[in-house]
Amino acid sequence: MVDMDTLVSLCKRRGFVFQSSEIYGGLGSAWDYGPLGVEMRRNIRHLWWRDVVRLRRDVVGLEAAVLMHPRVWEASGHLERFSDPMIDCKACKRRFRADHLDERPWLHYCPAKKDSPFEIPAGAACRHCGARRTLCPECGRGELTEPRQFNMMLKTFLGPVEEAAAATYLRPETAQGMFVNFENVLQSTRRKLPFGIAQIGRSFRNEITPGNFIFRTREFEQMELEFFVNPLETIDGRPADEWWHQHWINARLGWYLRYGIRADNLRLREHAKEELAHYSKRTVDIEYRFSIGWSELEGIANRTDYDLKRHAEVSGHALTYFDDERKTHVVPFVVEPAAGVDRTLLAFLADAYHTEEVRGEKRVVLRFHPEIAPVKIAVLPLLRKRDDIVASAREARDRLARRWVSAYDDTAAIGRLYRRQDEVGTPYCVTVDVQTVGDPGQGEAGDGKVTIRDRDSMTQARVPIAELEGAFERLLGGAPWAPVAAAYPTQSTDPGVDPA
Ligand code: GAP
Repeated sequence: MVDMDTLVSLCKRRGFVFQSSEIYGGLGSAWDYGPLGVEMRRNIRHLWWRDVVRLRRDVVGLEAAVLMHPRVWEASGHLERFSDPMIDCKACKRRFRADHLDERPWLHYCPAKKDSPFEIPAGAACRHCGARRTLCPECGRGELTEPRQFNMMLKTFLGPVEEAAAATYLRPETAQGMFVNFENVLQSTRRKLPFGIAQIGRSFRNEITPGNFIFRTREFEQMELEFFVNPLETIDGRPADEWWHQHWINARLGWYLRYGIRADNLRLREHAKEELAHYSKRTVDIEYRFSIGWSELEGIANRTDYDLKRHAEVSGHALTYFDDERKTHVVPFVVEPAAGVDRTLLAFLADAYHTEEVRGEKRVVLRFHPEIAPVKIAVLPLLRKRDDIVASAREARDRLARRWVSAYDDTAAIGRLYRRQDEVGTPYCVTVDVQTVGDPGQGEAGDGKVTIRDRDSMTQARVPIAELEGAFERLLGGAPWAPVAAAYPTQSTDPGVDPA
């Protein structure tokens, strides 16, 4: 399993993710996405939107404003309850989440032992004096305060005056945008239950302990679906909300598997009763085995009718659905799959990361599913000093770029160029060589063919330029490499050396 430092370093070196405001020393917990990270995020959003919204007949989209009426947060319960217990160090002033403290080892200055301080494992007591942690895990000297509740809403002020009346919050989840627009969507689309409203957008939380790279940040992007269900209905003998909850748990787990996450690295975790959020009847997390341990990738909650009822109560505006069959108004139940773009990207990166030895050299390869890979095709000229080869390669790239994200690179010899593309997970390289264009000086015509090289098997196929688009339509449309390559003779293995 790849550790976080290796991923952070690869992401910076190859342009996936940069520390925010790095030239000013960096802003803790904020990250910027570079050229490759941006493409990958677009892929993740696109696949989620395609599968959760466009391909379904029962889901529509929405984009609500980040800033909402402050009473939204009163109704949702965020003002009152969206908090974590926080503990401060009286000496170094660092702040910790109380529930995370016992997960860390601590440094102990034991009165029974006069020599230097020593580390005690997470949750354990000192075996000499019996003390439990009372001191800061970072500086080891400061007393810790009692836990206090810390609200994670990020406050801001609208208008020129910073006064209570102008205060509002940056949304901590996109979900509330869907609840407050329930009636607008219902009336404008004339939907029948069950149906869903989906949204992708930024959310903000003043996390006490952000960290682990892009796993927990203060600004992040969510992909959320609120699926509204008629509570009077049953499906297969079960209440409809429970049936749909299970449906979405299965569908969402299947989504990660479909785009290449290994089954061994995914699991479902049922929330215990005491752990359930105030609005939830049942919540199941999809967890990924990150290098920091099994952690939440996505939460799928049965939010019951809590949100619509609360917004009706606080706004004074009834939010119901008229059940034609039963001739009665109902408040729909809501099933909510809620995922994060950033965490999903981190999981795809970690899962794709492989190292192997190829003819005595280390090869780092990101084995991304082609739809996740930021660049699909890299076109590489074998000799950058031959104008006709370069021109042909550039022309091929420009043609392919109309349909797929395609790169051109001539800044190194071919063996090195292949390795660079492997390291960012490009599934296919196309090489234009002397055989492609011929040697006009010697009166030799080219064969008009280029080499496609497959990232995973490192085998190659020689394909007429005119057939490139057809070959990539199949390959990037999901066809496996072997049968496509078999249609073209002259397959060989990646030389692994620099033939230039
Ligand atoms: N509307 C429900 C909701 O927001 P959540 O479990 O708090 O539920 C859903 O968040 C997802 O959003 C998480 O599974 C995670 O992927 C992402 N997420 C939440 N907080 C995050 C943070 N501070 N940094 C990055 N991603 C976060």
